[in-house]
Amino acid sequence: LSHSLVAQSEKEKFISELIGKMTLQEKVGQLNLYNGFYEATGPLPEGGNQKIKYDHVATGRVGGMLNVNGAEETRAMQKIAVEKSRLGIPMIFGYDVIHGYKTMAPIPLAQAASWDQKVAEEASRIAAFEASAAGLNWAFAPMIDVTRDARWGRVMESPGEDPYLASRMAEGWIRGFQGDDMSTPRTIAACAKHFAAYGFVESGRDYNTVDIGTQTLYNVVLPPFKAAVDAGAATFMNAFNLINGVPATGSSLLQRDILKGDWQFEGFVVSDWASIGEMIIHGYSPDTVAAAEHALNAGSDMDMESYVYLNGLEDLEKEGKLNIGLLDDAVRRILGVKYDLGLFDDPYRYSDVERESTSMMTAESRATARDLARKSMVLLKNDKDLLPLPKSGKKIAVIGHLAASKDIPLGSWRAKAENNTAISLLEGLQNVGTKEEISYSEGYVLTTGERSFLHGLTFVESNEEGFDAAIQVASEADVVVMAMGEDAWQSGEGRSQTSIKMKGNQEKLLDKVLAVNENVIVVLMNGRPLDISDLSEKTPSILEVWHLGTEAGNAIADVIYGDYNPSGKLPISFPRNLGQIPIYYNQHSTGRPSRIDFDPQLVFWSHYTDAPKTPLFPFGYGLSYSEFEYSELKLSKNTMSSSETITASVRVTNTSERDGDEVVQLYIRDYSASAARPMKELKGFQKVQIPAGESKEVSFTIDDELLSFYRADLSFGSEPGFFSVMIGGNSQDLVRKDIELKP
Ligand code: NOJ
Repeated sequence: LSHSLVAQSEKEKFISELIGKMTLQEKVGQLNLYNGFYEATGPLPEGGNQKIKYDHVATGRVGGMLNVNGAEETRAMQKIAVEKSRLGIPMIFGYDVIHGYKTMAPIPLAQAASWDQKVAEEASRIAAFEASAAGLNWAFAPMIDVTRDARWGRVMESPGEDPYLASRMAEGWIRGFQGDDMSTPRTIAACAKHFAAYGFVESGRDYNTVDIGTQTLYNVVLPPFKAAVDAGAATFMNAFNLINGVPATGSSLLQRDILKGDWQFEGFVVSDWASIGEMIIHGYSPDTVAAAEHALNAGSDMDMESYVYLNGLEDLEKEGKLNIGLLDDAVRRILGVKYDLGLFDDPYRYSDVERESTSMMTAESRATARDLARKSMVLLKNDKDLLPLPKSGKKIAVIGHLAASKDIPLGSWRAKAENNTAISLLEGLQNVGTKEEISYSEGYVLTTGERSFLHGLTFVESNEEGFDAAIQVASEADVVVMAMGEDAWQSGEGRSQTSIKMKGNQEKLLDKVLAVNENVIVVLMNGRPLDISDLSEKTPSILEVWHLGTEAGNAIADVIYGDYNPSGKLPISFPRNLGQIPIYYNQHSTGRPSRIDFDPQLVFWSHYTDAPKTPLFPFGYGLSYSEFEYSELKLSKNTMSSSETITASVRVTNTSERDGDEVVQLYIRDYSASAARPMKELKGFQKVQIPAGESKEVSFTIDDELLSFYRADLSFGSEPGFFSVMIGGNSQDLVRKDIELKP
């Protein structure tokens, strides 16, 4: 402890002295984050003069850059900052390292389907290992926006609909990026984003308005961010959206009061791309100087690419309205993260040409990516036990554009992954199975033309040229593996959709294939929940594989041939149709029906007249090649006071002949509270390995904290009364008992 106190005071002394030497212009410079010169992830300002950027770096007017990468490029830019500028303060280099740098791990939504913090940790550990060798020391990840809307393109980047699962994933991601010591050359700063409520954009349209109540904000949106602070996240990014009329970027409530006040976050907050300037367009800040004032006062420390701090803060000072204390606080926070990264010891620590040349796509990283991908798949249906397939002795027809694509599995937000570097599903099956028994036919084409992060896609809606050939191979095979779903670039930023049905004529072809061969395994590749209601009625086996990254095909083959027994569970509900959105498991009870024996013919109860109100596949759902049975729930006692605990346990039995893993989930319900609580809330989970025919006792400890929530007055704590304790393998099939929390 004393050692770390000394280190802490040395750091403070160093930073205070440095701030003491800085001019106003240099302080503003630390708050300015510039985009690089050759890559953009947002709209560039007109006439952006690159020479000005160089000059600004040389004169200490830039604190960091994004989208500059590669050991050589970052070293060159760093050299200008360190050698030319008066104080030589090193820059920080940020990049969207979302699920990998070169080696792609599964998209974050898929990782969340593993319900395994280690998966999150390993994925960002590899990402940091590669990115840090390319001169980067700051990842714009993890995105921990809880979302309930499959239309929103960024659902692929999120941990799904539940705050508890999202919190556990957040901890894993942050640990993977930062390790125990950010100053080592292999670890980098994480950035928890987007603060806050970006996942609740109205109608799922990106950048749209958010208007949510305080209960949802405090109990659903904020918990993963609180977990991120507790896990030591070095930085936060705010959000594009308005929240209840105020831009998140200008929200003092979020950034000053909650994040830096209540939660005592000590790192810095970066704006999202141009979001400080966009406060003017939102109709909030009247002009640049006001936007600078609003954002700084609200606690946005660094300005990403809107030039508002650069152009507005000095004028604000001239008007006598600049709060120097807050400016210094922002500078202190930014310098603090640079210090923790070790940049003052060696500004070139992360720009290592030698290490860069040996660190990318190593055999070890690929092996890890394959393992993570296996853990991220969810078996949705396996009616006739079609899966797993034997490795030989069966003729397999592989069908679909997506099945042979070496690009689509890389997913959206793919950093520096080279196009077409994924193992396709077809290749994977050929690698793991018997090549001679596998035939391929494209069948349908989903998209054509240019494919990139910056442009929209061209969909092929009605080309049936490949149908006949596909039907032919299907009719000659014992079993069909048909890949269906979405292109990688259908999800991600700016890619919201009003439909969650599959595009093009995939389903049309599926019908024709099923007509000649009923043994069809659908492999679903997608970045969002899709409407698969029709498909799931007709198809015996469905394997949800998302976009699994570089090793996708090999990992899918591991599951298809049974080398790996699937254990993933949905991190987000799959609706029956678009009209059910937002649909999520942790809903509140409506007032109707008010009794169990109601007459459903009388219409005045909460339901739809044209479809059930339940999802097609609920949150937490996922099958395995094993089968698990849950025994009756046991409680150590039925009542507790707030200083006591109750142990809840079940025996989970693997009734099958295969060893398997099961994610055992704990939910609670609080029956009456100052603000009504949801009918179910996830409060714990454990992944257990259970050998064939054996059983395991799984127990959870229920304490006061677990029963606590943000109450009607927004204080955090429990309230006495009755609760249900529910345990099971998904959010719908649960064994239950009630307990009482005594006053
Ligand atoms: C905008 C996105 O919202 C954010 O997540 C990303 O980190 C920045 N652009 C930088 O690319």
